[in-house]
Amino acid sequence: MAPEIIFMEAVSLPDPDSVAREVQALRESIRAHDHAYYVLQRPTVSDAEYDQMMRRLEELEAAHPEFLTPDSPTQRVAGTPSDRFEKVPHSSRLLSLANAYGAGELKEFEDRIFRDFERRPAYICEPKIDGLSLALYYEKGRLLRGVTRGDGQVGEDVTPNVRTMKSIPLVLREPADIAVRGEIVMTRAEFARTNSLLLDAGEEPFANPRNSASGAVRQLDPRKTASRNLNFYAYSVMNWAELRLESETEMLALLQRLGLAVPPGCRRVDDLSGAEIYIAELDAGREELGFDIDGVVVKVDSLPLQRELGATSKAPRWAIAFKYPAEEKQTVVNDVEFSVGRTGAITPVAILEPVQIAGTTVSRASCHNMELAIQLGIGIGDRVLVRKAGEIIPEIVSVLEKARADKRRPLEAPTECPSCASELVKREGQVVLRCVNSSCEAQFLRRLKHFVSRDAFNIEGFGPAILEQLVQLGLVKHYADLFLLNVQDFLKLKETKEKLATKLHGALQSRRSVPLSRFIYSLGIEGVGGFAAGLLAERLGSLENLRAATLESLREIHLIGDVTAQNVVDFLASPEVIDELQRLKEAGVEARAEEARQTGAALVGKKVVITGTLQSMSRREAEDAVRNQGGKPMGSVSKSTSFVVVGADPGSKAEKAKELEVPVLTEAEFQAMLQSSPGGAD
Ligand code: IVH
Repeated sequence: MAPEIIFMEAVSLPDPDSVAREVQALRESIRAHDHAYYVLQRPTVSDAEYDQMMRRLEELEAAHPEFLTPDSPTQRVAGTPSDRFEKVPHSSRLLSLANAYGAGELKEFEDRIFRDFERRPAYICEPKIDGLSLALYYEKGRLLRGVTRGDGQVGEDVTPNVRTMKSIPLVLREPADIAVRGEIVMTRAEFARTNSLLLDAGEEPFANPRNSASGAVRQLDPRKTASRNLNFYAYSVMNWAELRLESETEMLALLQRLGLAVPPGCRRVDDLSGAEIYIAELDAGREELGFDIDGVVVKVDSLPLQRELGATSKAPRWAIAFKYPAEEKQTVVNDVEFSVGRTGAITPVAILEPVQIAGTTVSRASCHNMELAIQLGIGIGDRVLVRKAGEIIPEIVSVLEKARADKRRPLEAPTECPSCASELVKREGQVVLRCVNSSCEAQFLRRLKHFVSRDAFNIEGFGPAILEQLVQLGLVKHYADLFLLNVQDFLKLKETKEKLATKLHGALQSRRSVPLSRFIYSLGIEGVGGFAAGLLAERLGSLENLRAATLESLREIHLIGDVTAQNVVDFLASPEVIDELQRLKEAGVEARAEEARQTGAALVGKKVVITGTLQSMSRREAEDAVRNQGGKPMGSVSKSTSFVVVGADPGSKAEKAKELEVPVLTEAEFQAMLQSSPGGAD
């Protein structure tokens, strides 16, 4: 071939129309495959073919940025992490549901309808998915926003995260203006995968799939959401009247037509007995769903009738959630161990012959306390009934059959701590046995686990295995010792090489300063959970003030009860705690004040002008940050401007600011201002 021809070919521009057509065709195929895979759960193409299409589309978009649109399948890539979620109002209130436990309460629900309307309506029955409630807003078929339910009126804008979820279409199959409600769930298989990854990374596993799904959706870093497989099931159209829908059945059909998944196995039934049959059938088949449900939602099918029935302040009168009783299974008690809690409480834990309950294998069950265990009459070898309800750890309900006398070992209350062998005591008026040795290793380990946990110091990578070794090797005897460890110390741990050791060491350095509420929570004071810790931090403002607080002043804090106030005072007066706090201080660990949390966002009501080029963020990000903190980004400087942020190469706005004597901030000063506000760094 003549060289000129090659040259000619290389420079000849592809026909833009043909590129546009190819881009369009690729997007349509990818969307169709996504729909088949994530919504219908029936893959239509091999992974390799799918990847090839995706790569080709990426190539074309890179070469022709003019064709790139935000709803292209390539744009599911996770954006930059944010500092916090913006609170946004829902278009209409997201109601919750009233519950019915048992057939009697279901009948009462219908009787109320009958009383008012003298009608026994047809219903739609749907699985009640145990996930995270989400509203999606589409405009002309394009995903505009994803918002968590929040309190029903205002939720959190989680759009960047939602955009990474392939079960949520970025573009609907019709250009509808629609507000959709649904549930995000994680399958039990994905939950197991996620937890094993967390355990491998030395992090705390999630208690159940719902928490795991919620954790993934409420990630500040969308890349973390993208790495989890989450399903979304749509069950409701909020603006049904606008869309002229007449029934729930039509609603579900529309959602499916638009390319959304609806809960599997929804069924229209003519009457309540049909609903009862559905409830029984779904119960029998719930394992096969692959994700957790906690009941059945029974809804009046007719939307005009729903409107007539209306709602109470919390829940509609046209729907009810039938809750399945907690699942119970029989198994055998192989042994009983005694575990030592954070506060020294000794809890008998039955070691069970492993049994599947509600999708997970149960091999341990709490007996709460010795008294209860004795009351239940548990003996080793006995056949027992075990229940798992929601998030609660499995518990023994009753003894079904005692083991034969020669095989049975009756339960005996221990007299000494299984960890430190010190004598156990019972506080006056309490049934709980306690180890009161303040240097008991098992107690300390439990406290340490709490100290580093997600809602406390949130030190990444410090899972149970790492902590146990640190304590066993005698490297950590006080919380403060953690912060004094060097990389060499971590190398003493099993399977810990330079890279992990450096990572663990680094994780600690970044958590030397935490907000006061976290600091208080991490101390593990009895009765002081996240909520109470937040109240104390907000009202007292500093650790010094907390330490100086009297019983009276604590009691005055709204919502802090007398018992909690007493616990706080006793706790802080104990010599071990005084010593621990001193050590933390010496190790350079501090509780950061949370002034901003008390006064609200940093820029409330401020009019902010940004000029010139900023290094750390784009103009849009800077303006978003201003809005997030309650401020108003403005286009021009006037006397009412609160301040002007000046980046590199500023224009005339910087001069105008000087002229009008409006304060001028450098980028660093602006950053510092953002960091000091709630959610700024934590
Ligand atoms: S309908 C106004 N349908 O259950 C009625 N809710 O306990 C709106 N849920 O907040 C709710 N599966 O998050 C409906 N098939 C389903 C559901 C469902 C799960 C959740 C939903 C709601 C909660 C109420």
